[in-house]
Amino acid sequence: MSNKPVAKILGTGSAVSGKVLTNSDLEKMVETSDEWIRERTGIERRHILEEGKANSDLATEAAEEALKDAGITAEDLDMIMIATVTPDTTFPSTACRVQNNIGAKNAAAMDIAAACSGFIYGITLANSLIATGAAKHVLVVGSEVLSRITDWEDRGTCVLFGDGAGAAVIGPSDDEKGVLSAYIKADGRLGDLLHLPGGGSLNPPTHETVDQRLHFIKMEGNKIFKHAVRTMRDAALHGLDLAGVASEDLDLLIPHQANLRIIEAIQSRLKLTDEQVFINVHEYGNTSAASIPIAMNQARREGRLKEGHKCLLVAFGGGFTWGASLIQF
Ligand code: ACO
Repeated sequence: MSNKPVAKILGTGSAVSGKVLTNSDLEKMVETSDEWIRERTGIERRHILEEGKANSDLATEAAEEALKDAGITAEDLDMIMIATVTPDTTFPSTACRVQNNIGAKNAAAMDIAAACSGFIYGITLANSLIATGAAKHVLVVGSEVLSRITDWEDRGTCVLFGDGAGAAVIGPSDDEKGVLSAYIKADGRLGDLLHLPGGGSLNPPTHETVDQRLHFIKMEGNKIFKHAVRTMRDAALHGLDLAGVASEDLDLLIPHQANLRIIEAIQSRLKLTDEQVFINVHEYGNTSAASIPIAMNQARREGRLKEGHKCLLVAFGGGFTWGASLIQF
């Protein structure tokens, strides 16, 4: 990929529910402890969407903030992509619902199912659409309501996940700012280590699938852990290489926020300082596709990500899928 960017981030936004579930709340629900959760994951609390609200509500709120930040209107959008594994419904897509909510009447709309890597898939596709001239302004949202597919009786998974949405508006770049590299990959061989077995056309919902708890996330956490560390390290290095940027010249790494130990392992393998790594997993837990855009928006608001900064996004998730993107802000 050439170092002259064709597309850049024009604005960001995010949304989470005010309803918070702490580790001590979880102590009352399953056999776990605040100490175990903090030590093994770094998570202290997570935000849970209120009953009666949908993924598209969160995504719409994040999208509206990003549009305002970008200084464009919904009618300027040519494409809306919502990265999610928890769509409101299988169809219409959550992207079509958001399109309707915000009044983006000139935009095409589709969902991206790439689990925790979905936002980087979206950035990569947006960059390509802008590069070919097929679109000028693209809205990419990572939005999840994982609480609705979490088995609240399974302590191995229920302590990990949270709900939220993060959004970015991408548009043409005419300077040095923008997407300097965008790289995505998948390997379907180990998909069963992290999956939602029920509800699709393979195991459509029946009384049996409900009794067997097949409509909840199933995960072999410690097997995924090793893949996540190795793959995210390699993806991060590849994303830097493609952009011709050395890790010491990186201003900020925003890794997918799944587990503090995974993030620390990557930090140490890339020899990055604490200032170079953004972490908010303690506040939100793992919000899958939403984790990177929520962190990106927070980093901008807190001044950790400033104009001119080079920021590397890197993710790994179910599928398996992974990817990295180096963006100059
Ligand atoms: N509270 C207390 N004890 C628990 C809990 C809990 N919530 N959950 C599991 N344990 C117990 C286990 O039963 C086990 O007990 P045993 O030794 O008596 O059998 C012990 O703790 C160790 O369990 P492990 O699963 O080996 O613990 P590990 O150190 O691997 O941590 C965790 C588990 C946090 C899930 C970790 O493996 C992880 O984060 N993996 C990555 C998974 C992930 O993030 N997936 C999301 C998508 S992919 C991605 O986003 C990167």
